[in-house]
Amino acid sequence: MSTLVAEVISTGRLDLVPLRVGHAEEMAPVLSDPGLHTFTGGAPDTPEALRSRYRRLTAGSPDPDVSWLNWVIRLRDASCLTGTVQATVTSGGHGTVAEVAWVVGTPWQGRGIAGEAARGLVDWLGQRSVHTVLAHIHPGHRASAGVAAAAGLVPTDLRHEGEIRWYRSIERPERPERPER
Ligand SMILES: CC(C)(COP(=O)(O)OP(=O)(O)OC[C@H]1O[C@@H](n2cnc3c(N)ncnc32)[C@H](O)[C@@H]1OP(=O)(O)O)[C@@H](O)C(=O)NCCC(=O)NCCS
Repeated sequence: MSTLVAEVISTGRLDLVPLRVGHAEEMAPVLSDPGLHTFTGGAPDTPEALRSRYRRLTAGSPDPDVSWLNWVIRLRDASCLTGTVQATVTSGGHGTVAEVAWVVGTPWQGRGIAGEAARGLVDWLGQRSVHTVLAHIHPGHRASAGVAAAAGLVPTDLRHEGEIRWYRSIERPERPERPER
């Protein structure tokens, strides 16, 4: 697989903008609510720690078969950042698989932002070489399950570290038949 590179993805209300280190200052307050970590563990980063995290993420994966793709979610009309989406894309024997995740800051939740961003992200992945999209979601996390469903993923019976594996297979469009001569 050639390494995928994040591009701007535009949806009805949102621009998903490839993550830059300079986004850390605006994102730190967006992600400052400890409640964002209820289902995923951890705690909010200080602006300095977020800057270091973004520096590591934007440096990219050391493994050439893995792409780390990260976007901030910009609400176009308000011209402000509201959260992030990410995809870790791995190529291997089973085709190209993307594991996706999302976060929306507490003041911005409940407006369909994560669902719209996730749909845009999964559509973008489907237009590239990705065949399978996965997400791992805590069984009690109804909002995140709603986001996954909005992006066309369905829950499976598989668990990974106590989280449910959600799955979507992306059909490749059939190649048109060559016309008979
Ligand atoms: C999960 C998260 C991204 C949802 O963001 P959001 O922008 O509020 O989500 P949306 O408004 O797009 O809502 C998505 C769906 O969840 C539902 N939903 C939203 N908040 C909910 C809540 N508190 N309880 C139950 N359902 C909820 C919505 O009704 C919607 O479902 P619908 O499409 O059937 O109407 C946000 O809660 C978050 O960042 N949580 C912390 C980080 C996290 O846990 N990320 C997930 C890691 S897998």
